[in-house]
Amino acid sequence: MKKYKRYTVTAALPYANGPVHIGHLAGVYVPADIYVRYLRLKGEDVLYVCGSDEHGVPITIKARNEGVTPQEIVDRYHGMIKKAFDEFGISFDIYSRTTSDIHYKTASEFFKTLYEKGEFIEQVTKQYYDEETGQFLADRYITGTCPHCGNGSAYGDQCEKCGTSLSPTDLINPKSMISGNQPVLKDTKHWYLPLDKHEAFLRQWILEGHKEWKTNVYGQCKSWLDQGLQPRAVSRDLDWGIPVPVEGAEGKVLYVWFDAPIGYISNTRELTDKWELYWKDKDTRLIHFIGKDNIVFHCIIFPVMLKAEGSYILPDNVPANEFLNLEGDKISTSRNWAVWLHEYLDDFPGKEDVLRYVLCANAPETKDNDFTWKDFQARNNNELVAILGNFVNRALVLTQKYFNGQVPEISALNDYDKVTIEEIAKIKASVETSLENFRFREALKNAMDLARLGNKYLADTEPWILIKSDEQRVSTILNIALQITANLTAIAAPFLPFTAEKIRGFLNMKTLTWQESGHAELLPAGHKLNQPSLLFEKIEDEEVEKQLQKLEGIKIANTGKQKNVKPQKPSVSYDEFAKMDIRTGTILEAIKVPKANKLLQLKIDTGVDVRTVVSGIAEYFEPEKIIGRQVSILINLEPRKIREIESQGMILMAEDSAGKLVFVSPAEKTEEGSEIK
Ligand code: 2FM
Ligand code: ZN
Repeated sequence: MKKYKRYTVTAALPYANGPVHIGHLAGVYVPADIYVRYLRLKGEDVLYVCGSDEHGVPITIKARNEGVTPQEIVDRYHGMIKKAFDEFGISFDIYSRTTSDIHYKTASEFFKTLYEKGEFIEQVTKQYYDEETGQFLADRYITGTCPHCGNGSAYGDQCEKCGTSLSPTDLINPKSMISGNQPVLKDTKHWYLPLDKHEAFLRQWILEGHKEWKTNVYGQCKSWLDQGLQPRAVSRDLDWGIPVPVEGAEGKVLYVWFDAPIGYISNTRELTDKWELYWKDKDTRLIHFIGKDNIVFHCIIFPVMLKAEGSYILPDNVPANEFLNLEGDKISTSRNWAVWLHEYLDDFPGKEDVLRYVLCANAPETKDNDFTWKDFQARNNNELVAILGNFVNRALVLTQKYFNGQVPEISALNDYDKVTIEEIAKIKASVETSLENFRFREALKNAMDLARLGNKYLADTEPWILIKSDEQRVSTILNIALQITANLTAIAAPFLPFTAEKIRGFLNMKTLTWQESGHAELLPAGHKLNQPSLLFEKIEDEEVEKQLQKLEGIKIANTGKQKNVKPQKPSVSYDEFAKMDIRTGTILEAIKVPKANKLLQLKIDTGVDVRTVVSGIAEYFEPEKIIGRQVSILINLEPRKIREIESQGMILMAEDSAGKLVFVSPAEKTEEGSEIK
C-alpha cells in the first residue's frame, strides 16, 4: 500500500437540529475516533475534522414550530452536540460549524470556482410557490394527499405513512404549510452539477480503482452508477443557508448537501494555515467516516465536486457503517426512540468507556445491528469487569501484596512464559491489521485478547498458591503480568481511552507510542506502582430494568400519540384567528350548577369587567380549589344561556387523549385582561 505523509480523517457533520444518540456514536464517531487515536499513537500526522451541519430545511421547520430563528436552533444543538462528543472522548482536532464566517467564504469560493469553470448547468423548472407569503416552497413545506395510499398529510418529498418517495407535484390537493393556501407552479432557475458527465470517471475510479472498499459501500456505488446518474441541483429557494454567490441568484442559497461536505475543508482551514496540505497534497490520505445514508454524497457527489474544482485530492476510503437499532426498533429522533448521550451520562456517570466498548463490540459494520440494554449489561459484566478489569486488578493487587507495589524481577523464563510473551506481539499485530482494514469490532476483540491472555496466564500459573513455596517464580510471573498490563495502555487506548489512562496512572508510567508496545520490557524491575482501584463495576439488573421501563414509557407515549391525538383541523387565516379576543382573567367565585354534574358557574375578573361564565369542568375541579386561579378566557364569544344562566365567554382548557382537562394559564401571573395572541 502507498505510504502517506499525513491523514485527513473526517466524520459526518451531524445536523444541529437535535442532540446526538448512540446510533451516531456507533456508526461514525467511535470508529473514526478509534482510527485516529491509533494513527496518533503511531506518530502519524493526522487531523480529525468535524462540526455541526447547520443548514437545510428541517432546521427551518423546527425553528418555525418553536417560534424561534434557525440560528437559535443551531446555537442550542451545536453546543449540546459538541459537549456530548467531548464527554465521550471523541478527540476531534476541530469541531466547528457551517454557520462560521470561514465556511461561508470557503463554500462561496468553491461554488464560484465551479461556476467560472463552467462546471454547472443552469436550468429553469417549475416549482410550487406560495403567493401569499411570496416564497418558493421546499418539498417539506408542502403537504397534501398521497396518491398511493390516500394519507392526507403526506409531504412533498415523501409520504411517511406508506414510505413512498414523492415529488411535490405528485400530491393531490397540495397546501403550503406556511400560509395554508394552495401553492401555484412558478418558474425558478437553479444550478445543477451534471453528475452524468462524470460517470465514466467515477466508474473507473471506484469500480476499478477501489475494489478494496467495504462491500456495502462498493455495492451502493455500483448500483447508483449502473442506474445512470442525473444532474443534481446544488441550489435551493430558501432563506436559510449560504447565498448563491452569483448575479441573479437573489433569494437562493446553496443546497445543504453542497455546502456541508465543504464544511470539512472550512473547518480544517479554521484549524490550520497549512490546511491546503491536508486537502490538496497527493501524499495526504483522505478518509470519510459516515453512515450508509450518506454514501452517495461522499462517494459520488462530493468527489465530483472536488474533481471538478481541480485542486483537491479525492477520498482514499469511505468506510461507511450500516444503522444501529434500539431494542429492535429503528432509532428515531422524532419518536424519541434513542439513547441520548447526555441522558446516558446522567444515568451512568463515569461509564463513557463502557458505552464506547459496547458500541464498538456491536458496531453495525456489515449489517444493521441492535443495541439492547441486556447486551450492554452482559458485555460490561462478562467482558469489561470479568476479563479486562479482573486481569488488571489481579496483576496490580498481587504486586502490591507480595512485592510492596514494585515491579518484581524476572529470574528465569520457562517455555510457557516465552510463548506468552510472543503472544503479546502477535496480538498487537492482529489489532493493527484489523484497524488498517477498518474492522473495528474484530480489532477490539483482538485487543481484549491481551487481557484474556493475561487472565489465562495468571490462572494457569497460580501465583497466589506458588507464593508460599517459590517467591522467585512468582516474581517472574507478576513481572510478565505487569508487562501485559502495560501493553494495554497502548493497545486498548484507541478503544477505551479513559481506561487506558487510568491503567497508565496505576502503573505510574509514561504514555507509550504504538511502536514502543508489543513486548515484555516496558516496566523495569524495581519501578514503583501506584495504588490501583477497580476499573469497572458490575451493572445490576435494576439499572437495566430502569432503562427498559424508560423505553416502555416512550413506546406508550408514541402509541398514544398515534392512536388518540386528533388530526389537525382545516387551516384558518390569520384574520379569522385575530377576530378572537382572548384575555387573561382570574376566577373570583365558583359554584356547582344545581342538577348538572359537569357544570360550574364561575365569576371571572377579565380585566375588562367581571362576568359570569358557565364551564363544563366540574368533573375535574372542586369549586373551592380553583378560586384565585388565573386562566385564559375567550371574551367575545356570543353569550349563551346554559341552564338558565347566561354564560359570557369561554375558559380555555387543554384536553388530553383520555379526556382529562387542565387550565391553559399564563406561565407567570400577569395583568388581568392581557391579550393572548
Ligand atoms: O446525514 C447527516 O446527518 C448529514 N448532516 C451529514 C453531512 S456529512 C457532510 F457532508 F457534511
Ligand atoms: Zn402514502
